[in-house]
Amino acid sequence: MTQEKKKARDGFSSSFGVLAATLGSAVGLGNIWLFPYLTGSSGGAGFLIVYLAATLLVGLPVMISEITLGRQAKADAVSAMIKLAPKGRPWWLVSVFGVLAALMIMAFYTEVAGWVFAYVFKAIGGSLLSTDPKVTSAAFDSMVSDPVQALVWQWVVLVVIGGILLMGVSKGIEAVTKRLMPLLFLLLIVLGVRSLMLPGAAAGINFLFHPDFSKITAQVLLSAMGLAFFKLSIGMATMMTYGSYFRDDQNIPVTAFRVMSADLFVSLLAGIAIFPAVFAYGFAPGSGPKLLFITIPAVFANMPFGNVFMVAFFLLASIAAIGAMLSLLEVPVSVMSERFGWKRPATTVLNLVLLAVLGSGCALSASLTSDVELFGMTLFDLFDFVSTKLLMPIGGIALSLFVGWVWGRDRFAAALSNGGTLDNGRLVGVVYTVLRYVSPLLILVVMLKGLGVF
Ligand code: PFF
Repeated sequence: MTQEKKKARDGFSSSFGVLAATLGSAVGLGNIWLFPYLTGSSGGAGFLIVYLAATLLVGLPVMISEITLGRQAKADAVSAMIKLAPKGRPWWLVSVFGVLAALMIMAFYTEVAGWVFAYVFKAIGGSLLSTDPKVTSAAFDSMVSDPVQALVWQWVVLVVIGGILLMGVSKGIEAVTKRLMPLLFLLLIVLGVRSLMLPGAAAGINFLFHPDFSKITAQVLLSAMGLAFFKLSIGMATMMTYGSYFRDDQNIPVTAFRVMSADLFVSLLAGIAIFPAVFAYGFAPGSGPKLLFITIPAVFANMPFGNVFMVAFFLLASIAAIGAMLSLLEVPVSVMSERFGWKRPATTVLNLVLLAVLGSGCALSASLTSDVELFGMTLFDLFDFVSTKLLMPIGGIALSLFVGWVWGRDRFAAALSNGGTLDNGRLVGVVYTVLRYVSPLLILVVMLKGLGVF
């Protein structure tokens, strides 16, 4: 690549922009439909300790290393690994796996995001207002089993995400996340305060935080590690891609730590916005689509001005999903446009078409393709399994090994200290040692256990 081209490469323009975009990637549906329920059902405060340990021991070091590699190479994820690895070694395959994982996650994530978008409009229209979960359940079923609705909402999501990416990195991703992230916090705080003020809210807080260490089983350890990866968007080239847009003077460990803490804060606030209200109106806690699309509308229908809060809630979930999807789609778009020299707009459209095809398999899995199964799973479950249970951990192991054993301490230290201008030698030493010995082994054990190998 010529010097001129290098200079013209788009990137995040301000420190706040870096933070907003990276946090935008971390915060997503995971904070709303996975974290709160997993915490509540897996030992409350006990689970939080395990999750924090997984995040600090494995999540944060891998996140730091991915961002560092990306910023050092200032290239798309595949080119970055070609640039940084010794000549002729196939480390770039790690990024190819990342591209595949990003596309698979997008295929099912856009479907769920489509339902969330649809619910903003349905909430505005008032059609979801019923306190009877049987009614809200029927409304949800009729939406997902209608192939036209399922596809159209997924396409709406794809067009929104594609439209933002077409504007570029600084004018698209950065500009949008800088505006949306503060709004997300505002909505969360309003909903959290509302939920806490309801009579009977204490039961929800108790469900979320009451420590019960007897629930910390091997399965819970697995979930905590998986969640830490999914939450921080690591192990699949996303953070490497965003790292390539980081400014040279950005303090990477501090940024990563802030993103991790803010993401945790969002997850906790989401739990506080959801479960006190769920318990206050006597509903059973739950997770996934049932919680989001069946229980929550019924909870809001019980509240005075419930419609307003329902719109706020689905708007919040839409914002969270948008930031995450921008980072997911940016991985293949940047690889294809930079590596192959294709024009960014054409590459974006190509990926949208690819995802419309790939995603339709997921979107229609409750209707037309409901009996299509591969390896005993629907396409939705298969993509989820391959991306989060296989490709993400393999990516995490490979990246840790690459930095710890191939790239080496000196290069890592120089890159992480911004060429020696930051005095963070001790921290670099700790992160490097963890990457070399701790994270690859831990991730491997957890992955094999998850696959039922032992
Ligand atoms: N971190 C996002 C969430 O919690 O919903 C999901 C995600 C985004 C995973 C980007 C992976 C990724 F590369």
